Amino acid sequence: MQKGLFITFEGCDGCGKTTQLELLAKYLQDKGYDVIVTREPGARGLGETLREILLNYDGEVSSNCESFLFLADRAQHIDTIVKPAIDAGKIVLCDGPIDSTAAYPGHGRGLDIDQINYLNNIATSGLKPNLTLLFDVDTETSMARVGKNKDRMESADIEFQEKVRRGYLELAKAEPKRIRVFDSRKTIEQLHQEVLGTIAPLL
Ligand code: TMP
Repeated sequence: MQKGLFITFEGCDGCGKTTQLELLAKYLQDKGYDVIVTREPGARGLGETLREILLNYDGEVSSNCESFLFLADRAQHIDTIVKPAIDAGKIVLCDGPIDSTAAYPGHGRGLDIDQINYLNNIATSGLKPNLTLLFDVDTETSMARVGKNKDRMESADIEFQEKVRRGYLELAKAEPKRIRVFDSRKTIEQLHQEVLGTIAPLL
């Protein structure tokens, strides 16, 4: 039986998921829960090198290569950080993993979703989040929040960003119990209160 909890934060760049993750982590830590905060791509060690390539490499990167690099990072991250923490009974809060693979390479880049899911399943050894919080906001707002200083992924055109957003919403429709959608136009505090209400039954 799974001892800890695995909660993931998803959404397009600029959707506010990292802010909500940090607020939830602080809330849970203040209540005495054993929490670890982590992210994909690039939690630590080898992952940091993969992150640097994925976000800042300025040469040509094929869609398949990009997917395999994200998945390589995922396998390393799940095996060496996420699973051990869950086995130790911790609450793992993770920024951006797992569903982003269907959303970005799948819906965004147009790769075959079944193949992506198959490969993703290998990378995670079948581990699924207990709960996924998806922060949704229109693409114009999210891109404005990202600003001018964009990384390689954020620099993709608006059409790509819109496909990713629609992809996320489709995923949430298919798994409404696990993936909860939040309207990121709300204030940080409003969203935080909604997040607390959503995670309460799991604690
Ligand atoms: P971030 O860590 O600053 O949110 O940046 C990660 C970027 O990588 C973001 O644009 C989403 C993208 N991404 C994918 O395309 N596929 C993935 O599997 C993951 C985890 C992230």
